[in-house]
Amino acid sequence: MSRALPEVVFVLGAPGSGKGTQCARAVKHLGFEHLSAGDLLREERQRPGSQYAAMIEQKIRDGQIVPVEVTCALIVAAMRRATGTRFLVDGFPRNADNLTGWYTACSETTRLLFVLFFECSKEECSRRCLARGAAGSGRSDDNEESLLKRFDTYVKDTLPVVNHYDELGLVRRINADHDPDSVFEKVKAVFADAGIFSTP
Ligand code: ADP
Ligand code: C5P
Ligand code: MG
Repeated sequence: MSRALPEVVFVLGAPGSGKGTQCARAVKHLGFEHLSAGDLLREERQRPGSQYAAMIEQKIRDGQIVPVEVTCALIVAAMRRATGTRFLVDGFPRNADNLTGWYTACSETTRLLFVLFFECSKEECSRRCLARGAAGSGRSDDNEESLLKRFDTYVKDTLPVVNHYDELGLVRRINADHDPDSVFEKVKAVFADAGIFSTP
């Protein structure tokens, strides 16, 4: 008997657009597990003995994208460890390398439902990231210098990935320039359209 493939929703949007915040809500109310590529990379950076730690830190600080072999292996390992079968893969695929690496490693072993895409002005995103840094996020990239580079990478490398999925009819756009509760109402509506309903 064949088993159903794990289902994946990619979550994309500019730095600070609210991906992590909305994913936390979706975990609670929509029964998905949250795999943040950025969080997995930060964990790997902290892992004693990691051969990738220095490279990951450099890339994060410079707002550049880590080679997909590293990121995809972390995502796949996290999916294997998980108990659920529905995943929000947050902050991935972030560039063409991420995209081709995922196709090679996971396109036949997972089912992509859609791409949740948070749209939010650069000014608001920037404000949120700087506020997060000022509040003590401890992130080495929540500062003005890194943020400029992160936005640059987002426009040059990530938006083309969104366009790729748009051509396939898989992008679900959400205006994220509102308070978190209103944004989550829109998130729930997107999932409801796909036949996935929230619990209180
Ligand atoms: P991302 O994962 O897209 O970088 P986060 O969810 O981590 O974004 O949010 C970045 C910062 O902005 C966090 O400090 C978060 O609390 C705050 N934030 C998230 N969503 C909103 C929102 N809708 N309005 C105001 N602040 C928000
Ligand atoms: O998504 P998040 O803001 O946590 O990502 C932080 C950083 O992690 C990115 O700016 C990038 O340097 C790195 N990253 C990556 N590849 C991904 C996701 C994040 O290299 N797919
Ligand atoms: Mg995040």
